[in-house]
Amino acid sequence: MSELHRHLRTVARTALETLGLTAEQADAGLRLEPPKNKDHGDVALGAFQLAKAAGKAPPAFAAELAQRIPADDVIASATAAGPFVNFKFRRSALARDVVTAIAQSQAPYGPAAANGQTVCLDFSSPNIAKPFHIGHMRSTVIGNSLRRIHRHLGATVHGINHLGDWGMPFAKMMTAYMHWGNEQELAKAPMRYMFELYKRYSNEVKTNPGLDDEAARHFQALESGQDNQERRMWQFLRDESLKAFQGPYDRLGVTFDHITGESFFEDKMAAAMARVTAAGVLEKSEGAEIVDLKAQGIKAPCLLRKSDGTTLYHTRDLAAVFYREATFHPTRILYVVGAEQKLHFDQLKAVLQKMNEPIAAAVEHVPFGLVLSKTADGNWEKFASRAGNAVFLDEILDEAVAKVRQIIRDKNPDLPDADRIAEQVGVSAIVFNDLKNSRIKDVKFDWDSMLNFDGETGPYVQYACARLASILRKAEAPVPTPEQVDWTCLEDAERVLLTMLEFGTAVQRAADQSEPSHVTAHAIALAGEIHSYLRDHRVLDAEPPVRAARLLLVDAARRVLTTGLFLLGIPAPERM
Ligand code: ARG
Repeated sequence: MSELHRHLRTVARTALETLGLTAEQADAGLRLEPPKNKDHGDVALGAFQLAKAAGKAPPAFAAELAQRIPADDVIASATAAGPFVNFKFRRSALARDVVTAIAQSQAPYGPAAANGQTVCLDFSSPNIAKPFHIGHMRSTVIGNSLRRIHRHLGATVHGINHLGDWGMPFAKMMTAYMHWGNEQELAKAPMRYMFELYKRYSNEVKTNPGLDDEAARHFQALESGQDNQERRMWQFLRDESLKAFQGPYDRLGVTFDHITGESFFEDKMAAAMARVTAAGVLEKSEGAEIVDLKAQGIKAPCLLRKSDGTTLYHTRDLAAVFYREATFHPTRILYVVGAEQKLHFDQLKAVLQKMNEPIAAAVEHVPFGLVLSKTADGNWEKFASRAGNAVFLDEILDEAVAKVRQIIRDKNPDLPDADRIAEQVGVSAIVFNDLKNSRIKDVKFDWDSMLNFDGETGPYVQYACARLASILRKAEAPVPTPEQVDWTCLEDAERVLLTMLEFGTAVQRAADQSEPSHVTAHAIALAGEIHSYLRDHRVLDAEPPVRAARLLLVDAARRVLTTGLFLLGIPAPERM
């Protein structure tokens, strides 16, 4: 919380006590938020809960409260508007508190102290031996950002890659490899090669259904736990796939705390099944074992063991919940997985509820929409369906980088280190585009709009950072410290200052709602405010006290933008 917010709370609490509320009632109802309309004030307090505690109508209560809050050297005014009290800060106090907090990396501008939360973040989780598809890219990018956001807010975060390295899909791949695989071909381009094998299997199984029986037998052999041909093949394909994923992970700046795929739960499923049985919710149905969920409002039962004795995706997810509960004691378990798996996670949660497991409350599916690409006639279609081809993430990243490299060649041919910057900007353009809108919306994958340096894009925000860095470079002197600055010189920077003041709210909302787009929106807004400020205000050739204050403001804005980008998983180049 900022000094400004703290001050407001203290003053408001005192006023509320004179209005007859207890300290607890005051604390519980004191929610400060950015005002809907910036002309009304800098911070708004909705009086609904407080009025209720006082037994009064919100507008009347807001009016009484506003009257009891005197102006002081921080608060310029408190005025009621309907059920809200709007506060305005004195401009120099606003400048002092916001810029000092940023210069000192105080939370929320720097990492917060431990907040007591433990978040398990299940993300990326591609199926090995299958191409890393564009949906996995979304999960990777959203999850990576949420991981950074929760860490920043002081949570203990376990980023988990729940690889699809077990089960029938894997067994099919293995069967294909046993029939047609070739190690030299695989070594050349593992992902592409495995994808070809996968396609071949899907085609041949149409005329040769025996392949599926074979795959089922291989899976049984794999699940037998013996050291056999299947086990060795499994290890080999898993190692190769992981190596291949590392490339995109490195380029996206993604790391995991645990790479515990489905196979990790092989020896933990029996105990999970025993727990389901002990809870009395497991039923037999045509030789299979299921949990009926009709009473939970879900028609489809959750299948936990097939009639041939093998386990399923659900069985492993259930074992994973118990494992995570016992190992990490999470307050939240977030599954960043496409919206098409909604039923799967609804069922998982419902099984836990039916078992009366308290951990059910921690299970949260974080769904997201599809990636769409433009067709020749200007419509949008599901990305992966393009010519029935898979999407190789590395190739998309390469394409983005090549396009940015060309833009740099045209616009700034002398830029030093252009290749590195093209990589940073190209990859980030894709990431930013993915995180720009609320995650449940489909992402439109369109090169022109995502690489537009003047649009709401990654390059636009990165460019704002580079512009600020360039001013600081040209100043050729250390950035002034807050003690050296006359804050009245920043009274005309209120738009930039207020936007920076809202950073904490944006980050907190992103964490609460698993919605990095709040951080993206903040970065776009701040970049816009910076550009307008710099259009109207000179920094380097201003009078010395003004110059010092503006340089510190420039540095503060650069820090906030850089941190915002960092939380999105995006680097901020010093030059562009
Ligand atoms: N491997 C799965 C897929 O690609 C996603 C796994 C998500 N995580 C989980 N715990 N189920 O569809």
